[in-house]
Amino acid sequence: MFKWSENYKTGIERIDEQHKKLIEIGAKLEDMLYAGDSLDYYDYILETINELKDYTDYHFNYEEKRMRDSGYPDLEEHRMEHLYFVKRIDKLAMQDIDSQQISVISEALDFLARWLFSHILNSDMKYVDYLKRYTD
Ligand SMILES: [Fe+2]
Repeated sequence: MFKWSENYKTGIERIDEQHKKLIEIGAKLEDMLYAGDSLDYYDYILETINELKDYTDYHFNYEEKRMRDSGYPDLEEHRMEHLYFVKRIDKLAMQDIDSQQISVISEALDFLARWLFSHILNSDMKYVDYLKRYTD
């Protein structure tokens, strides 16, 4: 589910790098979830969810700064989408992970993957021209 494709390329190098990193973290999490029922995985899953949370925070701040600097008119609308994603990840990170909840987290991850790719394709692509025009 978490797999990079050329379709997701914005052509803005640092943002593409960050999107790739987010996809990598998602893929890592996905691999762990499907790796099995071992209790040993739970700490690592939680750690990776926190990594996803931290990196998302960094990435969204970066995007929002670039949008602000370039005078992108739909910044607020875009920010709301980021906020929605952050809340969803926060919820995920707050869950007690035990064997009963792996399937719940797996469902949440499916949702996050769909959100991320749809967000890149539909919302991130809209700021590309603005960001490219602005040079600092
Ligand atoms: Fe975005």
